[in-house]
Amino acid sequence: MVFPEKSKLLLVILLLVGFITYTGFIYKDLPVTTSHATSAAMEGKALWQQKNCNACHQVYGLGGYLGPDLTNVFSKRGPAYISAFLKNGTPVMPNFHFTQTEIDALLAYLKNIDHSGTADPRKFTKHYDGTIE
Ligand code: HEC
Repeated sequence: MVFPEKSKLLLVILLLVGFITYTGFIYKDLPVTTSHATSAAMEGKALWQQKNCNACHQVYGLGGYLGPDLTNVFSKRGPAYISAFLKNGTPVMPNFHFTQTEIDALLAYLKNIDHSGTADPRKFTKHYDGTIE
């Protein structure tokens, strides 16, 4: 026998403690538990889906191509500029006749997706292993 009974038990306990600690560590950092969307942002998202903004606009390059990508419109253009579009529409973009509360909710949503990352692929850094940042 290579290991005496006592060190086998010690080994099992060590592995168990290691396993439990590592599992706890991994589950503590799950990305789904770190969502910071406010309730206004969630309402804005619901409006975004109801009015189908995505038919003409993209988020992270996905969506229709009649209007511009809106992932980072909040930091690029600011709330006053966005509100003007949402209040009045344009000859191409419909006027949805939003209330101020609905506009605030959409602004909160656009601010939220703006914080989630940068959409413009021209600014990505390419790594040697093919990943991007
Ligand atoms: C029928 C297509 C269409 C729909 C639906 C639409 N938009 Fe637009 N939107 C446009 C177009 C096109 C523009 C660019 C301005 C123009 O050409 O009139 C625009 C511009 C914008 C801008 C200004 C972007 C910039 O960088 O100048 C914002 C903000 C915006 N839209 C938000 C929204 C939101 C929020 C919704 C949903 C409630 C929405 N749009 C629905 C077509 C649309």
